[in-house]
Amino acid sequence: MYEIAIQTEADIKIVDALMDEAFGLDRHARSVWNLRPGAPIAEMCFVLRDNGVAVGSLRFWEVMLGTHPILLLGPLAVRPDLRGKGYGKELVSAGLSHARSFTWPAILVSGEVDYYPKFGFVPAAPYAIKWPGFIEPERLQFFELKDGFLASLAGQNLPVRPTK
Ligand SMILES: CC(C)(COP(=O)(O)OP(=O)(O)OC[C@H]1O[C@@H](n2cnc3c(N)ncnc32)[C@H](O)[C@@H]1OP(=O)(O)O)[C@@H](O)C(=O)NCCC(=O)NCCS
Repeated sequence: MYEIAIQTEADIKIVDALMDEAFGLDRHARSVWNLRPGAPIAEMCFVLRDNGVAVGSLRFWEVMLGTHPILLLGPLAVRPDLRGKGYGKELVSAGLSHARSFTWPAILVSGEVDYYPKFGFVPAAPYAIKWPGFIEPERLQFFELKDGFLASLAGQNLPVRPTK
């Protein structure tokens, strides 16, 4: 039996441990962390509890794409012994559905190429966005929340920056 809830202070320690396990202790060296100098969006931080124990986490940060505030999805992690049961899918689905209640026009992820298209993410490569640091371009994918937003990016080559 599982539930998805908004993270609280009480979840921080166990969620950090999940992240260390999933991404390693040097995870903050990855270029995506250039976009996360501050705190994630509290209302967009989800925990999945299996029988009351936090075993999965999904957080979002706000970033700037040119002058547009958008969402950055991740990190996403599920405890290794409970992977493959659909918990990752439940967390991403909850995040996407919750994101629709706000005004961000799109979500960007730097993630597994094969994992995100099933949710409706599309390659960001055609928009030639400028990423702060090294990235395999195929990992960058967009999910459109506001119809027409991605089309409006054509030819602009906008930089992605942290929200000040
Ligand atoms: C990626 C991760 C969150 C997936 O969680 P999970 O609970 O095992 O995923 P699910 O059970 O919901 O899998 C959903 C689907 O994605 C597939 N899938 C799982 N992990 C995948 C991966 N790394 N790449 C591509 N597809 C993957 C599953 O086979 C499943 O496919 P199906 O719907 O056709 O059956 C988990 O493996 C994890 O924590 N990995 C380490 C951290 C990480 O890599 N995070 C993601 C960074 S983008």
